[in-house]
Amino acid sequence: MDGHLLSITDLTRADVEEVLDVTDSMVEVSSRAIPKVPALRGRTVVSLFYEDSTRTRLSFDTAAKRLSADTMSFAVSSSSVNKGESVRDTIETIEAMGIDAVVVRHRSSGVPAQIAAWTDATVINAGDGWHQHPTQALLDSYTIRSHRGSLDGLHIGIVGDIKHSRVARSDIEAFTRLGAHVTLVAPPTLLPASTAPWDVQVSHDLDAVLGSLDVCYLLRMQRERMTEALVPTLREYTACYGLSAERADRLPDGALIMHPGPMNRGVEIASEVADRPDAVITEQVANGVAVRMAVLFLLLGPGRAALPPLADALADATADPADVTASGPDDDVSGGGSDAGTPTPSTSGAST
Ligand code: CP
Repeated sequence: MDGHLLSITDLTRADVEEVLDVTDSMVEVSSRAIPKVPALRGRTVVSLFYEDSTRTRLSFDTAAKRLSADTMSFAVSSSSVNKGESVRDTIETIEAMGIDAVVVRHRSSGVPAQIAAWTDATVINAGDGWHQHPTQALLDSYTIRSHRGSLDGLHIGIVGDIKHSRVARSDIEAFTRLGAHVTLVAPPTLLPASTAPWDVQVSHDLDAVLGSLDVCYLLRMQRERMTEALVPTLREYTACYGLSAERADRLPDGALIMHPGPMNRGVEIASEVADRPDAVITEQVANGVAVRMAVLFLLLGPGRAALPPLADALADATADPADVTASGPDDDVSGGGSDAGTPTPSTSGAST
């Protein structure tokens, strides 16, 4: 993997596996008493989130700090975006301060790709519209691989609001690259107009597929993105597609229950199901830090091909106490701004 990380569609199976392999090393680093290495010392990573986030934003920030990069965070709510500053002018302003990478989330599909055309910095897509959320797919793949050894031959059901979901679009690409069989489970109104580009099955009947799933991946009902009534009522949606305790009990032994967060407890997932041991939702969050460390390392560091320097780069930083205690100048660079270009598939935003 080199250049930018804009979409899983830009990655081969080998690229995805490389990220997951490097993530193993980052999990080890994260388990140390002092989880910090000097791998990206001197590099600066800026987070540019035009849309709300808890997991992605905090985990990228944590990942960069664990690799000793300096970090800058962009708070839209207190930025010059509120004075009408465009995305392009915002990027040029931040770039003038000296940055190596931009982690960007935006409500419009295609903004990260547009930014990549405007800057010499590495661009990492942290979610754009309905389009892609590649690091979510990488952390989901890592979580499944850590439990099952491989995704080859697994049956993964992705359940819910496929239509508005960048997580679904990213996971489909990652899971099928890694050899899984994917079934999309949703009412017709929550599916895209066509699923033909994907190597997936489609079902409108969750009860019919539950018994064959190795992974039941639930999507958030993105009510804020629905401009029309796509389900009769939330109660009816939950009755047909929600993972109740009774449905969860019908999953095969060893099946994983996953959700990207934030959850609508009581809608797509019963609250007691979210807290079961076979629900690995907080594990997904924890793995998100290590996966994002791997992505930053591969894009900004010496890279996997540079082994054994990888081992050197991940050597314990405690030899130099300054490396352990320095946390970088968490400058707050405000921003927001107008939309940029709009490739596939929509200009509408979508959280997670
Ligand atoms: N899964 C995810 O992207 O969560 P956040 O919106 O909290 O970043």
